[in-house]
Amino acid sequence: MAYTVPKLTDYSSAALEKNAADCIAACEAETAEVRSDADLKAFRDRWMARKNGILTQINDVWLKGAPKEAKRETGQTVNQLKVRIAELVEAAHVSGRDSDSVTERVDLSLPGVRRPLGAEHPVIKTMHEIVGVFQKLGYSVAEGPVVETDYYNFEALNFPPNHPARDTQDTLFIARQQSKPQRDRLLLRTHTSPVQIRTMEKMPPPIRIVIPGTVHRNDPPDASHSPMFHQIEGLAVDTNITFGDLKGTLDHAMKALFGSDVKTHFRPSFFPFTEPSAELYVTCFICGGRGQRGPDAPCRPCKQTGWIEVLGCGMVDPNVFEFVKDNGYDPKKVSGFAFGMGVDRLALLKYGVDDLQLFFQGDVRFLEQFG
Ligand code: DAH
Repeated sequence: MAYTVPKLTDYSSAALEKNAADCIAACEAETAEVRSDADLKAFRDRWMARKNGILTQINDVWLKGAPKEAKRETGQTVNQLKVRIAELVEAAHVSGRDSDSVTERVDLSLPGVRRPLGAEHPVIKTMHEIVGVFQKLGYSVAEGPVVETDYYNFEALNFPPNHPARDTQDTLFIARQQSKPQRDRLLLRTHTSPVQIRTMEKMPPPIRIVIPGTVHRNDPPDASHSPMFHQIEGLAVDTNITFGDLKGTLDHAMKALFGSDVKTHFRPSFFPFTEPSAELYVTCFICGGRGQRGPDAPCRPCKQTGWIEVLGCGMVDPNVFEFVKDNGYDPKKVSGFAFGMGVDRLALLKYGVDDLQLFFQGDVRFLEQFG
């Protein structure tokens, strides 16, 4: 039987309490019957409508019929009742929901929806670690465009037009640019070194920056090559920077990255934008520099030499400073060192991965192992 508001004859406390309790019980029972939006609306109107809703009726019938001495207590009872009924009607909003006429209820005891968190890609993770080491030394991070002009990628780094040193870094050129002067032609940058010039154009010395980013070369993909890979460049320029600063800084960085036991070793090399130039080797962090991993196990990563080449470096060539001389980089007054390393190869070694392509195929089963 649907609830109707009774007329009260007995206004004793006990009777008031009982009538209020009956009303609440009736309302509670009705909330369970709400199965659709239409039900919900009807339910809400039945109890709350200003004109002739049950609460309005109670207000009218119970309060107005109350004898003088019971008015106060009746008023209090009705007020409490209104609060409770309003709560029940409000809760029915949540529990009574219409979805294709099937009642949907929220079961708070069910496990939640799991949304797996992604993990940092091993190359990006390695990149962050390297950048972190230099940030602790006071270096800031700079970035530059991947589509670069011939000027920044080559010319301002002391690779003159037609110089054979350009052959070591072949890349993809943007098509149909023959009408442009050579220095304005666009290409995919072959290294992060162009950001050295871009940063020096914007910031006067002293400068200490690291430059992470993607680079491209005309290399067919295989286990140790990829037409796209990652580099971190470094540049420090100030008055009186020496090769000793370069050695000290890189020795510290290698120990921070590979452990305090590693030894560093510089071999002379050539890069157009540094003079002198060197390649930095560290003792193999796989075999500890022995070249062997056991009695019959030659160490592959270091090709049994005990040394692994990690980067190219050198003192910034004065010819490079000439291109940014007007921004305070007079080669007679400032000096600096630079370095550049391939991140992907370090990540390969670090995680013992034997095929570079695995990093770029996006196979979740491979990537999950680094999560
Ligand atoms: N840009 C060079 C490369 O991609 C790496 C490099 C060597 C960067 C020496 C430097 C440097 O800053 O001083 O092969």
